Amino acid sequence: MRHEVDFLVVGSGIAGLSFALKVAPYGKVCILTKGDASEGSTRYAQGGIAAVMYDSDSFDKHIQDTLVAGDGICDRAVVEMTIREAPDRIRELVQYGVNFDREGGGGRFDLHREGGHSEFRILHHKDNTGEEIERGLLEAARRHPNIEIKERQFAIDIITQHHLGQRVTKHTPDIECYGVYALDCDTNRIDTYLARVTLLATGGMGNVYSTTTTPVISTGDGVAMVHRARGVLSDLEFMQFHPTSLYNPAEKPAFLITEAMRGAGAILKDREGKEFMQKYDKRLSLAPRDIVARAIDNEMKISGKDYLYLDARGIGRKHLIEGFPTIYAKCLSIGIDITRDMIPIRPAAHYQCGGIKVDRNGESSIHHLYAAGECSCTGLHGGNRLASNSLLEAVVYAHNAAQSAIAQVCSGECVVDSTGSNATHYPLSTIHSKIPDWNAEGMVLNEEMVLITQTKKELQEIMWNYVGIVRSDLRLQRAFDRLNLIFRETEDLYNRSVLTEPLSELRNLIACAYLIIKMARARRENVGLHYSLDLVK
Ligand code: FAD
Ligand code: SIN
Repeated sequence: MRHEVDFLVVGSGIAGLSFALKVAPYGKVCILTKGDASEGSTRYAQGGIAAVMYDSDSFDKHIQDTLVAGDGICDRAVVEMTIREAPDRIRELVQYGVNFDREGGGGRFDLHREGGHSEFRILHHKDNTGEEIERGLLEAARRHPNIEIKERQFAIDIITQHHLGQRVTKHTPDIECYGVYALDCDTNRIDTYLARVTLLATGGMGNVYSTTTTPVISTGDGVAMVHRARGVLSDLEFMQFHPTSLYNPAEKPAFLITEAMRGAGAILKDREGKEFMQKYDKRLSLAPRDIVARAIDNEMKISGKDYLYLDARGIGRKHLIEGFPTIYAKCLSIGIDITRDMIPIRPAAHYQCGGIKVDRNGESSIHHLYAAGECSCTGLHGGNRLASNSLLEAVVYAHNAAQSAIAQVCSGECVVDSTGSNATHYPLSTIHSKIPDWNAEGMVLNEEMVLITQTKKELQEIMWNYVGIVRSDLRLQRAFDRLNLIFRETEDLYNRSVLTEPLSELRNLIACAYLIIKMARARRENVGLHYSLDLVK
């Protein structure tokens, strides 16, 4: 089946929904999302969103904290733009219906502090900020007459000149995006979605690793699609490991213990109950994430233990129960009373700092293709993202991308109104009529799921053991060699199988793992999250 829209959005997290709400007055918007609309990293965000809201803080301080966390390789102009735009974007979230906690229930926002921040500047909704943001945005999007949300639609590939039979390489100067092919996960039919502008907001790739805080949908689909389409990707060696996921080995994804808890006074301790961060950084438990995760990894390796502790008891019973209700309830459900017991923790893959390279308008190297949120690489994070700057980046770049996309679609002829009914557009490109539908002839259904599930596990273990928090040339070489075999076996399966969501995700995870290793091997200095035993700082 063929569908034509003005704005095609892949992903219904904070980035996709924010963009959709902004462009909706200017044309027809279709959001494709591979699971339920609310499923994605956004709804699991705990700590909150960073912004300078009051004079007690300053843009300069937030800029400086971001640059320091990024270890000297952030794009300074991007950092300044993002942080200065933040208060406006926060006010918009509130207008869409998102509730952030206020001091004493009054007018001033209640602000938290997290690692690497010199001030209290994290807006939050208790310890389930993401759930509140996702709720507010999704309700607003569902109310908008120009937005259609299509669940269980899995975008497989972006459509370019390649699908018109032209040879496209990474040196092709003007690659264009005409939309995507997407698999209907209920019927297994592959539809053709054509659009004037496409936004990828597909989130992260945490599932490249065996232990991750990210939900199962985070399989790097957007990055893999752009890789196959020969677009530009960047900074994928900078995978962020969150220092404190709850140690509960059977649970996937790993449950997060927010950094805001350390901001409120919780302290990292070894298995004997002794503090150890003084050995690593004078900011102790509130040092930036890369430093804390490496310190924990080192302590675990020295002691041979699977987990260490976060001691939150000093925060006090009332504050813990009222301020961190989700964590309190979760820990209690597995027999840990955080008001009396220390919390067993270990690091987990959490956030991909790199991704689809975009300019300040969120536009990728492929024409008419934008990217925002975790799948993109804007230059804000440099070598290591500052806590709570991710949700911020997503709203700022969704806004910028929307402004640029509106200009592209309307080409200056658009008459603006609140429903889009008066919008006048150029006719859809005649190229669209030439795009062929997906060809699945001669493919057979792969009956053996084990070929996919086992390969995925192997991949995740290889990446965890060889391409994790601490790397070396030998480990990266090993990972690369092992991955090669997995890649060839999976491509063989792909070339003869009817496409399914698990197979597509596996291919995407392999592509992402390959890119992480390739970029890690090319980075010949220890910077930010990339740390190799064979390199010096
Ligand atoms: P997501 O919210 O992950 O959404 C991705 C969307 O893309 C989903 O709708 C998914 O279905 C869809 N999708 C993916 N692939 C396809 C495909 N092939 N076809 C169709 N649809 C597809 N950041 C902060 O700033 N502050 C925090 O407090 C914070 N806490 C966090 C806590 C946890 C546990 C985690 C995992 C992350 C946290 N982060 C936090 C990071 C932040 O939540 C994410 O980076 C951010 O929410 C990503 O938003 P997004 O819109 O880019 O992607
Ligand atoms: C957390 O709450 O610790 C996560 C914050 C983030 O990932 O920015």
